[in-house]
Amino acid sequence: MENFVLYNPTNLQFGKGVLAQLGKLASPLGKKALLVYGKGSVLKNGVYDEVVKQLKTAGIEIFEYAGIKSNPVIEDVDAAVKTGIEKQVDFIIAAGGGSVIDSSKIIALCIPEKLKGWDVMKRKVMPSKALPLLAILTLAATGTEMNPVAVVQNHETDEKIGYGHPLAFPKYSFLDPSFTCTVPANYTAYGIADLIAHCLEAFFTAGHSPLSDRVTCSVILEAMEAGPLLMQDLTSYELRARIMYSATLALNGITAPGRMNNGDWAVHGLGHVLSLLHDVPHGASLTIVYPAWLKLHKNRIPERIKQLGVLLFNDASIDGCITRLEAFFGQIKCPLKLEEAGIAKKDHARIEEVMIKNKVSGTSNPLIADDYRKLIQLMSS
Ligand code: NZQ
Ligand code: ZN
Repeated sequence: MENFVLYNPTNLQFGKGVLAQLGKLASPLGKKALLVYGKGSVLKNGVYDEVVKQLKTAGIEIFEYAGIKSNPVIEDVDAAVKTGIEKQVDFIIAAGGGSVIDSSKIIALCIPEKLKGWDVMKRKVMPSKALPLLAILTLAATGTEMNPVAVVQNHETDEKIGYGHPLAFPKYSFLDPSFTCTVPANYTAYGIADLIAHCLEAFFTAGHSPLSDRVTCSVILEAMEAGPLLMQDLTSYELRARIMYSATLALNGITAPGRMNNGDWAVHGLGHVLSLLHDVPHGASLTIVYPAWLKLHKNRIPERIKQLGVLLFNDASIDGCITRLEAFFGQIKCPLKLEEAGIAKKDHARIEEVMIKNKVSGTSNPLIADDYRKLIQLMSS
């Protein structure tokens, strides 16, 4: 078993009505909040109104930055930082999915020392302070609500990268599963796929930690049981709650202890190229890449894929494990091939070029130059 540090300071408030605590918990943090949200889902589903009511009752002044896009971009981060500095806000409230919360983590790190978002993400500067961040999660997928990671795109440099900092954990995260009942079927499925992919990234890194394997596979089994039921009943509170909790556990540090580097992360790196170049939703990029990655690796790590098959399906066949995972992604109607995400053969060369340029690889399972072309072929029908 590898040495590990398990540190997670986020105070998670889970369940129906938890947002009623927002005003009380935000009050000690200051009198001015920057409220960050996306393209408008929070305006339609009542989350925005509830947040404003809570903050006004607590006597907190609200400034807003709206319009964070899915697969967020660094320009929005810098623009929100500018507003936050001008208005001298005391803390950040992020209401939305992973894109809004990730952007808010970098915003919170940049404001106190007037930093540029991309300088932080590329580690050209090391923030020593952060404003407190309160996250109100409206989409179960990324685990950002209880981790210190943010993923943002920069189209000038052709990069979509992750950044982690111990000051980037949300101080409080509010998870009311009923807020996720309005997530449409496609993003619900992408969220289920994303949480499973986080478990697989942890599973496929080197090291020996049977308990972590069991925890990881329990989260996958929960998602495989509740996920298809939820796809049939999108407004079920109980099923939304099961998936929301699964998504948090899939990437809050609990699946990683005893294995190396918190995961392999090659599949995420490959998926990020698809999102960067073709705006493929994050979870959808992973259901295209994971089956291809497993097929490429079936002769490199056969024993590990076999172990996964036994733990998940009670089946030691390598091809059986890959086929069953692929079939699950298909069952919840996620894309399995590039063409299903609108990516044509003519786009393959550019995808390969950016994968090579960004040196996409895994921490335990390195990728070599020839692999990108093979992977793209395996992703293509
Ligand atoms: O912009 P709005 O109007 O809010 O609409 C969003 C967006 O269109 C909508 N949505 C969110 N909550 C909703 C809702 N629609 C109806 N009802 C609701 N309750 O859903 C769409 C997708 O939102 P987004 O935030 O982009 O999705 P997700 O939560 O999947 O986040 C994806 C981003 O997180 C990154 C991804 O790379 C991607 O950029 N990740 C972050 C990680 C982390 N911080 O640890 C790890 C992940 O592996 C991932 O890389
Ligand atoms: Zn992910």
